[in-house]
Amino acid sequence: MSLAEPMAAPGASAPDSPVAPGTPAVDAAPETQSVPWPHRHLLDVDVLAADEIDLVMRTTDAMREVLARPIAKVPALRGRNVTILFYEASTRTRVSFEVAAKNLSADVVNIAAATSSVTKGESLVDTVRTIEALGADMLVMRHPASGAPYLAAEIFGGSVLNGGDGWHAHPTQALLDLYTIREHLAPMPRPPMPAAQPTPPMPPAPGAPSPALLAGRKVVVLGDVLHSRVARSNIWTLTAAGADLWLCGPSTLLRGFEAWASRGAAGRRFTVTSDMGAALRDADVVMALRIQRERMASGLLPSLREYAARYGLTRARLAAARPDVVVMHPGPINEGVEIAPDVATGPHSVITGQVTNGVAVRMALLYLLAGTRA
Ligand code: CP
Repeated sequence: MSLAEPMAAPGASAPDSPVAPGTPAVDAAPETQSVPWPHRHLLDVDVLAADEIDLVMRTTDAMREVLARPIAKVPALRGRNVTILFYEASTRTRVSFEVAAKNLSADVVNIAAATSSVTKGESLVDTVRTIEALGADMLVMRHPASGAPYLAAEIFGGSVLNGGDGWHAHPTQALLDLYTIREHLAPMPRPPMPAAQPTPPMPPAPGAPSPALLAGRKVVVLGDVLHSRVARSNIWTLTAAGADLWLCGPSTLLRGFEAWASRGAAGRRFTVTSDMGAALRDADVVMALRIQRERMASGLLPSLREYAARYGLTRARLAAARPDVVVMHPGPINEGVEIAPDVATGPHSVITGQVTNGVAVRMALLYLLAGTRA
């Protein structure tokens, strides 16, 4: 279910294609397509224009169509090598990138830093150069240091996709979150059309921003915002989509975000509060974040039990939201801490859908980056 009409932009989809105009024909090689994607790397979402985010959404629709086929595979990246280099633990991101690359017929190499020469002192620069010498065309990486993928992008000859760096960014998570919201939110009721329309409305010009996907929608990001690369990337995509964005949690886990919100940098406006009742009231979407115990300095929280008592997303608290509220969590979940088990698996939860959509979104991004026209 789409919240916005697809943008009328030039593209290569066939006239009888089930996907929207302006969407690449993803059975074909990406370099044969005429879609306007100028980015060689995906390091964060802050560089994506609204029409580029729309293109990711539409290309993901096309990948979903591929995934619904009896053989969910296209030859688009045949002959290309996608290397996945993770310096931090991961289930969802690492596995879904691997599945996505294989669905596009790429050759996939997995490297876990813990079992590589990194343990013998090899530097990041040396590792990236070595991977390139071994034939990698696209590098997916996760690293505990914010900015590490930017360094890799400076020396790697192909494309770098950030699978999460420190507290800084998790661009593919933000895009799969937006896709999942777009899929699950019921369309806003539209005002009735006037009786007579003297002239039909003009279609948007190619390259113009599309109508905001989430205009008038209240989206709450709840919990450990301070340590969350997911929250930082979601701020960009959700505000680009026009959401009424609220960040909520204990004040110690919101440090720095008040200042960002008050600056309204680059037209990004959002509300920062520790008042859970105000945040959840009439919310359309609530995204609970994991308490990141591994990054938590002492003194930020009295205890997990107290956090759960004051900020845990329970059924009782969720009752303040809209009756059709969508509940999300990027995972992995600390059940009973940031979210109650019956909410995580309840009728409003789309958490499993987020994981499933991760494959289609990452297929779309690998495809678009492989066809970059700078
Ligand atoms: N959401 C997320 O990044 O999960 P993983 O750490 O399992 O990849």
